[in-house]
Amino acid sequence: MRRLVAETSLRPQDLVLPMFVAEGIDDPRPIGSMPGVVQHTRASARDAVREARELGLGGVMLFGVPERKDAIGSGGLDPDGILNVAVADAREVAGDDLLVMSDLCLDEFTDHGHCGVLDDRGRVDNDATLEVYGRMGVAQADAGAHVVGPSGMMDGQVGVIRAALDAAGHQDVAILAYAVKYASAFYGPFREAVDSSLQGDRRTYQQDPANARESVREVLLDVEEGADVVMVKPAMSYLDLVATVRATVSVPVAAYQVSGEYAMIEAAAERGWIDRDRAIEESVLSVRRAGADIVLTYWAAELGRRL
Ligand code: PBG
Repeated sequence: MRRLVAETSLRPQDLVLPMFVAEGIDDPRPIGSMPGVVQHTRASARDAVREARELGLGGVMLFGVPERKDAIGSGGLDPDGILNVAVADAREVAGDDLLVMSDLCLDEFTDHGHCGVLDDRGRVDNDATLEVYGRMGVAQADAGAHVVGPSGMMDGQVGVIRAALDAAGHQDVAILAYAVKYASAFYGPFREAVDSSLQGDRRTYQQDPANARESVREVLLDVEEGADVVMVKPAMSYLDLVATVRATVSVPVAAYQVSGEYAMIEAAAERGWIDRDRAIEESVLSVRRAGADIVLTYWAAELGRRL
C-alpha cells in the first residue's frame, strides 16, 4: 500500500554524480573529509563514467583539479587543461546515453581560489570574469560537454555564456545554471576535494543564508538569460528555496547535495549514530519531495546500484 501511494520516487535517471578529476596523479587519491569519494585519474574517471552510464544515471558533473593554478585561472581555458580533457574522455565513454556536464567556474584554476579574476584592489571583477566564462564555456563545449554548469555567481553569466556558445556553433549545448547559491559552510570538504586555498570568503558574490526573496530574482534572471535548468545549492538547508523555485519557474529544477551534507551523514554513520543507508535515501528523497527534478549527489552511483 505504501508503494502504491508513494508520491515521490528516486530513480537513477534523476541523479547526477559530481566527480573530481586530477592532473598528474598516478592513482586515485582519497579525499579525507569525503570518505568514499576520490580525486580520479583520467583512467579511473573513465571507469566511473562507464559505470554511471551502465547504471542509467542522468549524468556526471565534472570538476578539474589542475596541477598548477594561476591568478587568472588559465588552466580552465586550455584545451589540454585537465577539465577539458576529462570532459572529452567522459564524452567518449558516455556517448549520448549519459549527459556529460562540466563545472564552469574559475575557483579550481585560480591560485587565490576565487570564482573570478580579481581587479587591482583584489576584489572579484564581475565583468572581466564574464568574458573568461564565455571562452571557458566554448572550450568545454568543444571538448564535448552536453551541458555546462556556471557556478561562479557572477551577474550576467548565463547570458554571456549562451551568446558565446551560440556564436561558436554550440546552440545545442545546454546551460544548467547554479542560480541560487548560498555562501555556505557546507562547501567545506569541497575545498579539500579541489585542493583549494581560498583567500577570504565568497560573501561578495554568493548569497546570504538569511535571505530567500533574492533567490526568486536570481532564477528569473537566469531563465531570462537562457538557463535550461536552474539549480539550488546547497540542498538540505535550502529545501524551502527548492520548493519556491519549483513553483516559480517552468524549467527543470536541480538541487546540489554538497560535500558537507555528504560528510555529515558519512561521519555520523561511521560513529554508528545513524543508519547510513536509510539516512542517505531519506536525505535525497527529501530533496526530490521539496520539488527538485534532478539531484546532484555524491551518492548517485551507490543509489543507482541500490535502486
Ligand atoms: C564552485 C563550486 C563549489 C562547489 C561546486 N562548485 C565551491 C564553492 O562555490 O565554494 C561546492 C560543491 C560541494 O561542496 O560539494 N566551482
